[in-house]
Parts: sequence; structure tokens; C-alpha cells
Amino acid sequence: MTVEQPTEESVEAPARDWFKSAVVYQIYPRSFADSSGDGIGDLRGIISKLDYLQRLGVDVVWLSPIYTSPQDDNGYDISDYRDVDPLFGTLEDLQELTDGLHARGMKLVMDLVVNHTSDEHPWFVESRSSKDNPKRDWYWWRPPREVAGDGGGVQGAAPNNWGSVFSGPAWEFDQATGEYYLHIFSRKQPDLNWENPEVRAAVYEMMNWWLDRGVDGFRMDVINFISKDTALPDGPIAAGMLYGDGSPFFIGGPRIHEFLQEMHREVFADRPGPLLTVGEMPGVTVDQAVLFTDPERAEVDMVFQFEHVALDQEDGNKWRPKKLKLTDLKHSLGRWQTGLAERGWNSLYWGNHDQARAVSRFGNDGQYRELSAKMLAGILHLHRGTPYVYQGEELGMTNMTFGAISDYRDIEVLNHHREATTHLGHTDAEVLAALAPLNRDNARTPVQWDASRHAGFTTGSPWIAVNPNANHINAAAQVDDPDSVYSFYRQVIALRHSEPVVSHGDFTMLLPRDEHVYAFVRSLPDTQLLVLGNFSGQDQEVALDGADVPVAWGSAVLILGNYPAEPSVPRLHLRPWELKVFRAGR
Ligand code: GLC
Repeated sequence: MTVEQPTEESVEAPARDWFKSAVVYQIYPRSFADSSGDGIGDLRGIISKLDYLQRLGVDVVWLSPIYTSPQDDNGYDISDYRDVDPLFGTLEDLQELTDGLHARGMKLVMDLVVNHTSDEHPWFVESRSSKDNPKRDWYWWRPPREVAGDGGGVQGAAPNNWGSVFSGPAWEFDQATGEYYLHIFSRKQPDLNWENPEVRAAVYEMMNWWLDRGVDGFRMDVINFISKDTALPDGPIAAGMLYGDGSPFFIGGPRIHEFLQEMHREVFADRPGPLLTVGEMPGVTVDQAVLFTDPERAEVDMVFQFEHVALDQEDGNKWRPKKLKLTDLKHSLGRWQTGLAERGWNSLYWGNHDQARAVSRFGNDGQYRELSAKMLAGILHLHRGTPYVYQGEELGMTNMTFGAISDYRDIEVLNHHREATTHLGHTDAEVLAALAPLNRDNARTPVQWDASRHAGFTTGSPWIAVNPNANHINAAAQVDDPDSVYSFYRQVIALRHSEPVVSHGDFTMLLPRDEHVYAFVRSLPDTQLLVLGNFSGQDQEVALDGADVPVAWGSAVLILGNYPAEPSVPRLHLRPWELKVFRAGR
């Protein structure tokens, strides 16, 4: 008898693509659970909820930044990469959290924010101290631009016309040395100069330090911004805008692949894993994503792309919301499915701490909140890719109705409101109405644990208001209710773990021109799933074209749905916001 030797490929494969059957849960620590009573979520709060996460069935927790930070952008402005901010706890607490997750079979992925640091990071403090400081070149310093023959050297002539993502110019004048520094985000988030090899070495050393401490990977913040066109040319100024768009010169810049491959070699290559890397990449195209995520190229496991979260805006401007067309959504997500079918891998998300709440945005947060939250979960998680659940999404948490601008906390909102009312001539009411649907604070209200005061999030005074609907939308009401949104997420997550066709099957989009029904097939040689979702409050008949449909669905089994079984309803009839998943095969 000949025994087949396992090939190198077959031995490595399970470890290499473990994340295909994994589900990631994102925690935004400030808003998750507060143990200390100061009104801000913290690590011990998270530790107290580990059983809740385990019960949900997620495999990985991605923790938004908990590092030392002045909190200008809620921790995405880091002043010490190797310590925990006292707001959130201590390194010991973080170790306990890591161990607690590991003990329950879950992994911990940290946020890696290295396009920029805080202006209070010692690297920047040194860099700004003098023009000949050894760290001067760790950031992007430029002299004032010469305007109309004034010989340069004056304030008021930024090196180029770029605007910051958070309104205002992308350059800040520094009195001490008479130069400007670049900050794509707030003026307290100066951009690191990745051209400098010392910067890269310092970042890799820090990443290795964390991996040595037992963390299991990184979600890399705006990582496709790190390579910039060193000429820093002016960008085009769109109608109604005050500043130029520099993104063509810093998104996916000339050395981005080189930097990510170097990072992989220096940090990940020699580690047995299994680790997870996901690059947040605004503006990334499908073709670029194939290069970033092709395992042969050794860059990152997957990327967060932004196409599907820009479809409900004019010109990708979140302050100019418009109605989403389901055909646009299917076209976009379908293209990503096809584009990454052969090489690379998708990440799947409806929401995160920068996006509006999924059920309010893509579903119906009124009469059909629970049905649509479940339908959205089924549709997203049954695509090919690794799904991400943002805290509270598993409860069907909704957008918040804020009142005055003083109710908001996000620097992006506050800066935009100031600029729009003072420089662009809009009224307060106009600006508030326009920013309501898509602002980031929608997703940052505290997680609703129970119906008690402040939703059980804190015994103190919460840093941002709790959504008043916590009285009926909360975890305590859901965890033991088999019909709850939470229980539905458990089912959907479990399906990925038990059904190889969910984690590994091919994807085929159906009905691309239907404005109400989202339909697709997943298939492996011996199993097929037909997934149908009604994105409307009206009944829909699904008109499957025989040519599109690989198997006879008439005998397939309904394995998942968000309505109670009702034999009198035809198989291909969908009630408002209904989800049906049929399985054919062995
Ligand atoms: C990413 C983060 C966002 C942050 C920005 C700057 O987009 O997700 O929250 O404001 O980067 O770090």
C-alpha cells in the first residue's frame, strides 16, 4: 500500500488560511463597558464581558486603540505605543484581557496606528525641537512656500494646498523653527515619514514587542497612506471645497507595497502564527487589493475597502448623504467578490467606529429593526470573506438622534461644523441635518447592556449620551431570547464554523438588476447555498432565472431564516426584510 505523503502545501494550508472561517468582533473601548465609574469604557470593563463574547461565538477581538494618548481623536493619536492609557487601565489589565481571550479560544488583534503619532509623542517632541534634531526627518517638515516673491519664510504659505481629513489645512505652522508639518488628520496627528528607514525600524520593533507579549495581529489604521509622493504636489480643489485633495499623492503611494513587504519580513515572516493582519485602506481599488492580499506577495491577509460605504453619498462626501440603491450595493460588493475570487481575500463589514449603525443605514431601524438587522447579518456573513461585527451590531443598535452640536464629541464632526458654519456660509440647522445620518458618533454611543440607568454601561456620567432606546434594545433582553438579534448572530457565526461552503465556497451574484432582492449562491462541489434577502418593507417574489441557478432549489432545505417557519408561504416569496438560506447537497 502506498501512503500519500502530505505536500508542503497541504501541511501549511490550514494554518495559513485559518481566518477564512473566523469572525472578528470590534471593540471601541471608550464605549464598550466602564468598570471604574468615570464614564469611559475600560479594559476591566471588557474583561467583565468575555463570557458574552464567547457565547456570541466570535474568534477574534479587534481592540481599537488603548495606548497612551491625549485623546484628540479618541486614541488614534498615540503618544506612547508601549503603554496603556490610564483612562483604559494598565499593561497588566491588558495582559489579563489577552489571557482571558486566549483561555476562551479567542485571539486579540490590536490597532496599529503608524501613519501618524500624537504631537505629544516623544518622537515628535524631539523632531519639532530644532531643524537639526536627529529625528527632524521622522516627520514631514517643509519651509513655507514662497508666495508672490516674498522670499518665503512667512507664516500663511503652507507648502501645498492639501486639506486635512478633519477640515482645515493639512499643514500646521510651527513657530519655534519657522516650518510647517504635515498632518492628514488633526493637527495633533503629525504624519510619520516612512521614507526614513529609522522610522520603519522603530515601528517594526514596536510591533514585534507586542507580538512577543502574545497579541495575535494588527488592524492597520489608514495603512495605505504611509507612502507619499515626496514632491507633495498641490491637489485638485473640488467645487465648494476650501482645500485641495491630496489623496492622489498619498493613497497607495509609490513605495506602499515595498513597505508592507518589508514589514512582513521584519515582523511576521518568522512567526508560526496563526496571526491576522488587516489593512484599513480608504480609496483602495479591487485591483490593488488583489496585490495587497495575495498570499504569495506576503503583505497583509485582507484589507478594509470603502466602496460600499460611499454609495449613499454624493461624490463620496459623507456630509452630502443620498439614498442607497440596492443595485449599486450589489454591483460593488459583487465586483469585490469576483475580483478577489482567485487571489487574495475580502473582509466584510457593514459598520465600525467610523460608520453609521448598520441597521439604520442599510436596514430599517423602525418597524422592521429586528428583522432587517438579522437579514443584514445573514447577507454579509454568507459572502466569501472574513466578517467583522462592530460592538452593538449584534444587538441591532441604531443610530443616535443628537440635538445641538454640543451633544457631539467627534473631532471630525466638530471641525466640520465649525468650518461649514464659519467659512462656507451654512446655517447651524443645515449642517446638523446634513451630518445626522452618517456621522461617526452614531456608532460611538455606549453599548446597551441593560435597561437600567445609562444602559448598564457606567455608574458614572457617560462621556457621550446613551441612546434612549436602551430601555428596549439591550443585551440583557436578548442573550437568553432565542429569537433575538443576538441569538441570530450566534446562529450565523456558528454556520461559518460548521459549513465549509460558507468559509470556502465560490460566490455567484444573482439578480443584479433587482432593486429589492439581494440574491447569491455559494458553492463547493458537494454543497450549495442559495441566499435571499429582501431589502424592502414590501413582499417580493424572487424570480430566479433557471439559467443562473446551478441546482434544483425545489428540494433544498431551508437552513436559516428570520421569520418563523410558515409552510403556506411559497419558497421564493419573501416577506418584508425576510432572509432565507437554502442548502442543497450532501
Ligand atoms: C482611521 C480610524 C479613524 C481615525 C483615523 C485617523 O480611519 O479608523 O477612527 O480617525 O484613521 O487615525
